[in-house]
Amino acid sequence: MPAAALRSELNDPTDMLMTTPARPADPTTAASEVLLSARDVTLQYKTPDHLVTATWRVSFDVHVGDRFVLLGPSGCGKSTLLKCVGGFLPPAEGRVWLANKEITEPGPDRMMVFQEFDQLLPWKTVLENVMYPMQVSRRFPKSEIRSRALQCIEKINLAKFTDAYPHMLSGGMKQRVAIARALAMEPAMLLMDEPFASLDALTRRAMQLEVLRLWDETAFTMLFVTHSIEEALIIGTRILVLSPHPGQVRAELDATGLGPDAVSTRKFQDLQREIEDMLFNSGEPAHD
Ligand SMILES: Nc1ncnc2c1ncn2[C@@H]1O[C@H](COP(=O)(O)OP(=O)(O)O)[C@@H](O)[C@H]1O
Ligand SMILES: [Mg+2]
Repeated sequence: MPAAALRSELNDPTDMLMTTPARPADPTTAASEVLLSARDVTLQYKTPDHLVTATWRVSFDVHVGDRFVLLGPSGCGKSTLLKCVGGFLPPAEGRVWLANKEITEPGPDRMMVFQEFDQLLPWKTVLENVMYPMQVSRRFPKSEIRSRALQCIEKINLAKFTDAYPHMLSGGMKQRVAIARALAMEPAMLLMDEPFASLDALTRRAMQLEVLRLWDETAFTMLFVTHSIEEALIIGTRILVLSPHPGQVRAELDATGLGPDAVSTRKFQDLQREIEDMLFNSGEPAHD
C-alpha cells in the first residue's frame, strides 16, 4: 500500500487514540484547526430484545475546511455516526466535541442533508424552504433572511425556480435546494448522508461537481457519508474507512487532489482497489 496515500491503517481497536495522523506539509491545511473530534465513539441501539452495536470505538478529527468522508458498506454505522454528530444520539462510550464543546444536543451549527428527496416541505416554495430554518432558528436578523435565501438559491443556479414547489423539481434540483437551505444557515459543519445515492449516474456526477464548486466558492467544512468508494475519492480530502458492521476504523486516507478529473488515473484506481481490499478482504470480530 502506498505510504503517501495511506496515513494510517488501524486494525487494532486499542490503537484508536493514535489515529490522528500528521497533517500534510501543505501550507493551506498544515495550520488548520480541529473542528470536530470524535474519540472512542461506540454507538448502540437498544431494541426490545437486544442491543445493536452500530459503531465500535471510532475516533477521528475533522479540521476546518475538510471535506471529510465516512466510507463503509451499508449497515456499518455511517448514518448513526452522523446522528451522533448531529446531537440526536448520545454515545454509549466515548465523546464528541465540536469547536472544543462537547456535543450533547442538536444545533443550527450542524445542518444535515439527507438522501431522501422528500426532505423539503412540500407546501412551501423553494424560497420559503430555504428561508425556513433561518426563521425558526433566529440565527440572522429578520430583515436579512430573504436576501440570504435568494443569494443561496442563485449560488445553486435555481434562481428561475424560486417560487416553484418541490413537486415541480427533479430529484437533483431538490437535493440542490436542500444543500442551499443548509448552507444558508452558515453551519460550522455541513453533514451529508449519502445525498446523491438516489440519483441517476449522470445527475450524481453533476451534483458531485456542484458540491466541489460550492466548496471552492464558499469554503465550508463538510462531513460526507457514502458507501461508494469512487464518490469518496472524488469528494473527500480525507477519508475514514469503516469496517462492516459494527463500524470500526480501518484506515484514514489522504485523498487531496483526487477530483473527478482523476477518475481514470492510475493513482485513483490503485487507491480504489486498496480500499476494496480493506473493506472486503479482512475479517473483523463482531461486537454485538
Ligand atoms: N433505529 C434503529 N434501531 C435499531 N437498530 C438500528 C437503528 N438504526 C440503525 N440500526 C442498525 O445499526 C446499524 C448501523 O446502521 P446505519 O447507521 O444506518 O448504517 P449505514 O448508514 O452505514 O448503512 C445497522 O445494523 C442497523 O440495522
Ligand atoms: Mg445510512
